[in-house]
Amino acid sequence: MNNLNDILKEATEGIKKASLSSEVENFRVRYLGRKGRITLAMSSLATLPIDQRKEAGKELNKIKQEVESMIEKRLSEITSLKRENLADGEWIDVTAPGIKHTVGHQHLVTQTIKDMVEIFSKLGFSVAEGPEIETDWYNFEAVNMPKDHPVRDTQDTFFINENLVLRTQTTPVQIRVMQTEKPPIRVIVPGKTYRRDSDVTHTPMFHQLEGLVVDETVTLADLKGTLEAFVRAFFGEERKTRFRPHHFAFTEPSIEMDVSCGICGGGGCRVCKYSGWVEILGAGMVHPNVLKNGGIDPEKYQGFAFGFGIERPAMLRNNIDDLRLFFDNDLRFLEQF
Ligand code: DAH
Repeated sequence: MNNLNDILKEATEGIKKASLSSEVENFRVRYLGRKGRITLAMSSLATLPIDQRKEAGKELNKIKQEVESMIEKRLSEITSLKRENLADGEWIDVTAPGIKHTVGHQHLVTQTIKDMVEIFSKLGFSVAEGPEIETDWYNFEAVNMPKDHPVRDTQDTFFINENLVLRTQTTPVQIRVMQTEKPPIRVIVPGKTYRRDSDVTHTPMFHQLEGLVVDETVTLADLKGTLEAFVRAFFGEERKTRFRPHHFAFTEPSIEMDVSCGICGGGGCRVCKYSGWVEILGAGMVHPNVLKNGGIDPEKYQGFAFGFGIERPAMLRNNIDDLRLFFDNDLRFLEQF
């Protein structure tokens, strides 16, 4: 009996101290396993005299049950302790606000192009595209700018080699369209253009929108009506327009168009240099040489064309005074639009 009490005492202390469930399991083996101390004591019962056997057996069973329940109790204590620690380390506040994912949006240039395309498509224009790396012939020669034309200077144009340039204008796409489409033609061409220029009003890359209409009876009056409709839709109904004679190699006659200044309403201010007008585009009747280079008979067809920078109207409409802001990619600027 003394021996049994020792076993119980030892087991009680050991199991209480165990901090890992594997340690507790070791105690189970040590006391209750096949060669465990309690198991062995059970089998030695047979060696006791009959009269003591019953009493000892009862006692031993009690001890066995006690050890078993101590083991189960300690195991569940260890598990719940583990859970508590886990809750400390991996605690999640499901009511906390989530991390905000910022959503981007279209660049002001893209938005402006979209607006312009929408206006012109209501006037019956479709959108055409051309390559940004263009041959010398398309960019210059075909639009009536011969080899000695001043803008062909390497000071102004990015030459890739003798025959290839980064297009300086969207005008070459006029030729590409005429070569692939039969009149009546009515297209606009928004796209990137490149010139060696950089200051408050110039960036080496900028965007233009070209327009071309070719049909049997197309006049300067059609050009004027089209551009006026565009200006009113883009800038507002109250805006006025005016044509001034100008020169472009690819149109004859050529004009420049001004719109009444949106800042001062035509009264004169710094933006319009106190003239009441701001120049926004070049245009004219397509030069017969250009029609010919596009494979169209100038005896039968005529056309008008126009071209303008996209950033400048966007600047005028949104009161932006530095063109370079468009391409600095500063979110504080871009997010305003
Ligand atoms: N290509 C001219 C430029 O870059 C703009 C232009 C003027 C286009 C008159 C035209 C036009 O189609 O008729 O300055």
